[in-house]
Amino acid sequence: MEIIRTITEMQQKAEELRLSGIKIGLVPTMGYLHKGHLRLLDIAKKNCDVTVMSIFVNPTQFGPEEDLDKYPCDFERDERLAKDRGCDFIFYPDVKEIYPESYRTYVTVEEITKSLCGASRPIHFRGVTTVVAKLFNIVKPHVAVFGQKDAQQSIVIKQMVRDLNFDIKIIIGPIVREKDGLAMSSRNRYLSTEERKDALVLYNSLQTAKKMLESGVLDSREIKSTIEKIINSVSSSKIDYIEIVSIADLLPIKQLSGEILIALAVVVGKTRLIDNMMVRV
Ligand code: PAJ
Repeated sequence: MEIIRTITEMQQKAEELRLSGIKIGLVPTMGYLHKGHLRLLDIAKKNCDVTVMSIFVNPTQFGPEEDLDKYPCDFERDERLAKDRGCDFIFYPDVKEIYPESYRTYVTVEEITKSLCGASRPIHFRGVTTVVAKLFNIVKPHVAVFGQKDAQQSIVIKQMVRDLNFDIKIIIGPIVREKDGLAMSSRNRYLSTEERKDALVLYNSLQTAKKMLESGVLDSREIKSTIEKIINSVSSSKIDYIEIVSIADLLPIKQLSGEILIALAVVVGKTRLIDNMMVRV
């Protein structure tokens, strides 16, 4: 596995690979890898000849009050995990490489970035789409793999790819969970033992919602209020949002039908966690 730190070197390598007819798969991450990230690497490997994982804690997607400064990182560990999983290249630039002082350009996807996470994190998706567009131009992938864990992010990226005509296939990998159901996240390490237990309310409430849907409950308010009760049953939780939206436009639906997304963001202790479930009703 090779580690590349500069844009020029990454672009040259990507060009060489492309000229040899090699299919490149990109897995963008912010590092502190877990099994969810590694599963995306497996998917990239299955769909491509060469895999590039980017590791870059992207400052433009963090709000001023957010955890940019304490975002976990351990590059040596990431390097080992990626190598053992068969990754070919890690693109590991520093902040100045991606955002030099003269940097001025941002990519904004309208409308679908305003709801859900966009409501409490107003600049978040602008940062995500900007860095992902840059990574696409730097790594020149044929395929890029993202996780369902960040459902809105994957929908926003698909929209950007369509709108800006990136010639890249986007694949969405399933949510990888701990044995008890908690969705894996680099931020889970912030949780105390007690909060780790409380954090299960996200998954448990989604499971209850699924059962309600299966038993024919189609009133969004009823499902949301059950989810709310389950989440509020633990003292360390504070709901950011519980939304049931249509996958197409991320707008709320009252009477459930078609492809829907149930998405949650809950602050447990001081840690903001997200989880979701996509269902066809
Ligand atoms: P990060 O949070 O490191 O996640 C990198 C990728 O891993 C994302 O596509 C995310 O959806 C996926 N992922 C995270 N947890 C997962 C899980 N439990 N199961 C499956 N996939 C999971 O998302 C970002 O970084 C950034 O916003 C990024 C896209 C890299 C842009 O900076």
